[in-house]
Amino acid sequence: MPDPTEIDRWFADKDFTSDWTSRAFPDWCRIFESRRERTERILEIGSWQGRSAIFFLEFFRHASITCIDTFEGGTEHQGDPHLASIEQRFDRNLAPYGSRVTKIRSESIVALHALEKAGQSFDFAYIDGSHRRDDVIIDSLLTWRLATKGAIIVWDDYARIQPDTVSDGSVNMAVKVFTTLYADSIKIIDIGYQVVVEKRV
Ligand SMILES: C[S@@+](CC[C@H](N)C(=O)[O-])C[C@H]1O[C@@H](n2cnc3c(N)ncnc32)[C@H](O)[C@@H]1O
Repeated sequence: MPDPTEIDRWFADKDFTSDWTSRAFPDWCRIFESRRERTERILEIGSWQGRSAIFFLEFFRHASITCIDTFEGGTEHQGDPHLASIEQRFDRNLAPYGSRVTKIRSESIVALHALEKAGQSFDFAYIDGSHRRDDVIIDSLLTWRLATKGAIIVWDDYARIQPDTVSDGSVNMAVKVFTTLYADSIKIIDIGYQVVVEKRV
């Protein structure tokens, strides 16, 4: 398992203006340790400046990642003064990983549908794009189709109630709907600020 100093080194020369992600690193190290060597194809919905993608590429040494983002920010980011440069920061931060990274600048629903049409599949998925309830439900359903048996699916922000989406129940409601619908086909690995499940079928 990487120690905190090693993880700090992964991010030493990177350029970020925000950090919503590193608080999850200790849990990710613990939960995903047994999959470190065998995880190969990662799907990420919502990449921003690339912090979670860098963690996954460093932690899962043999993996490649497909990152889907509009790079326009969600509703919660619209006042962010750095919004116009998030894609440039993503590009610079991820450049050293070369062909291990596939960037898709798109609405997630369009991109996920295209990946399915192209016959793609993934053994790890991180859902951290739009935080609106219905978008998260659709992202989850489309991700499910792309996930292999045994794949891990992670949702961020399960425990966050966002002022702008409280009326539609935000991520929490969406993940509850999805995990209820697929209760017979998943194993819940962890529930906290994030939710982690394994696809069993
Ligand atoms: C919370 S940020 C992702 C943070 C990132 N995982 C990290 O570790 O820093 C959410 C991202 O989702 C993107 N996004 C929001 N709605 C989207 C949609 N419908 N399709 C694709 N990307 C979307 C935003 O542009 C933003 O970059």
